Amino acid sequence: MLIRVKQKSDVASHEITPQSVYLNRRAMIAGTGLIAGSALLAAPRAHAALQKGPGVNTPLANVKEGYRKLGEKDAITPYDAASSYNNFYEFGTGKDDPAANSGKFKPLPWSVKVDGLCNNGGTFALEDFIKPHQLEERIYRLRCVEAWSMVIPWIGVSLADVVKRSDPQGSAKYLQFETVVRPEEMSGQRSKFILPWPYVEGLRMDEAMNPLAILVTGMYGEAVPNQNGAPLRLMAPWKYGFKNIKSIVRISFVEKQPENTWKVTNPGEYGFYANVNPKVDHPRWTQASERRIGDFLRRDTLMFNGYEEEVASLYAGMDLKRNY
Ligand code: MTE
Repeated sequence: MLIRVKQKSDVASHEITPQSVYLNRRAMIAGTGLIAGSALLAAPRAHAALQKGPGVNTPLANVKEGYRKLGEKDAITPYDAASSYNNFYEFGTGKDDPAANSGKFKPLPWSVKVDGLCNNGGTFALEDFIKPHQLEERIYRLRCVEAWSMVIPWIGVSLADVVKRSDPQGSAKYLQFETVVRPEEMSGQRSKFILPWPYVEGLRMDEAMNPLAILVTGMYGEAVPNQNGAPLRLMAPWKYGFKNIKSIVRISFVEKQPENTWKVTNPGEYGFYANVNPKVDHPRWTQASERRIGDFLRRDTLMFNGYEEEVASLYAGMDLKRNY
């Protein structure tokens, strides 16, 4: 990951949708009866999106309103920015590449393998994998290790619920996640020089059990687009973005700390924990501040990306200095 210079896809600050406008718009649409259930759920951008749904064949009405604690300056990032400025090296290393090159990727049908140290593993069709769980809309900040950030309304299921259903054995200390390998559909995977494939990430078991961690199937009221990690990706909002692995096909319960891709690729710059920490700079740039996509001026980065209250206890007594 390189220091970012201004890109043509940058969004001007006047294009930002203030949170209040976004929420009002959604409430208005709910008022017209287009959305049954919660008044605050994201309006689908197109009717076609409802066919596919924010989960897999899940009507939006079945999505519950979840966590949405935001600061005053946290406007929701416009959909067009969140879906056109991406990191997904399987489709190329440029920010525009994932949207430009992922059109041929087929997110459905999809299956997820759950294996390793658990009693209730198996290979599940995505529909069956999601069905036992409540889909929720959660609005989270996303802070990339490259020092840019966004605010995105995700739709997903609690990772803790998925872990519980898998019935982990006592020896399982970590969860390991893997991205699909399909070089025929993912042009970046045809090169061995970009990253070692598959992309791998992991969480410690207690991190995976934290209520903030979700497995995402949708965003902005519709199915998550290919460039954002269709059809299933992780979101642990207190960590740098690279932990949030996309297009997951395998979840393994393991005893040893997973060898996550960016740590293996560049151990001097990236670690396993990767908790957002404004006091620990990246070796090549500051992490004290960040640029919210759409803003001109940088803003201060918050400890644990503003989720200190929810997650700090996970790291009590740990040396956070080499935690990037
Ligand atoms: N997952 C895979 N499989 N491949 C990737 O290159 N990039 C990561 C993460 N997940 C990446 C990935 C990085 S660096 C970031 S910042 C986030 O995805 C970006 O998510 P977004 O494109 O939805 O904003």
